[in-house]
Amino acid sequence: MNYSTILLAAGKGSRTHLSYNKVFYKLDSGKTVLETSLDLFLNDPDCREVVIVCAEHEIDAMKQLITPDARIRFATGGETRQDSVANGLKEVRNSYVFIHDAARPYLKKESLADLKDALQHEDACLLMIPSIDTVKLVENGYVVRTPRRDDVFRAQTPQCFKTSLIRSCHEQAALDRRQATDDAQLVEWYSDVPVRVVTGDEANIKITVPADLK
Ligand code: CTP
Ligand code: MG
Repeated sequence: MNYSTILLAAGKGSRTHLSYNKVFYKLDSGKTVLETSLDLFLNDPDCREVVIVCAEHEIDAMKQLITPDARIRFATGGETRQDSVANGLKEVRNSYVFIHDAARPYLKKESLADLKDALQHEDACLLMIPSIDTVKLVENGYVVRTPRRDDVFRAQTPQCFKTSLIRSCHEQAALDRRQATDDAQLVEWYSDVPVRVVTGDEANIKITVPADLK
């Protein structure tokens, strides 16, 4: 199962309260968040291409940081995460694409293998974990509904798609000026293609707030 990866690194990391983009944060291993996420894909021979999406002013710093590899290319980030993905998609050459937050350096190779297995039979899949908390829908400060906890899952990345499918969904969202909070949601909105759930791992957190920096 050959695929391309879009590695999203064009955010600001404002919620971590660092003075710089969190993907440059050094983990205990001595490697940055960005290098750690990148290496997971570069160590997979099925990954034929990694498109790193980053802010224009950070491209040089990223190039200096990472070990050169013929599979790596760069795209410029956009205003929102969705815009960054759309820019990355323009560079993708493979028929399947894995979209991953660079801010999730703890992804395991077992999860990558599970996603690749799912893509043998599906055109859209993503890592999700069952919610351990009860989730409630709230309007104007009052609870309106409580979905059954067994039906509630938390979406992670990678989210993986047939490239032509996710491209067309992104194009339609751009025309409608509609912003989703993840890529799978665009497939839910703009296609009838089922989105397959692949059970992920609690460790695959997105570094977001200061407590996530270890
Ligand atoms: N991202 C991106 N382009 C954007 C916004 C986010 O490529 N315009 C990337 C981030 O670099 C990150 C991932 O999308 O790897 C997930 O987004 P998030 O956790 O929100 O990261 P930031 O936007 O950087 O953080 P914050 O929202 O706290 O500023
Ligand atoms: Mg953000």
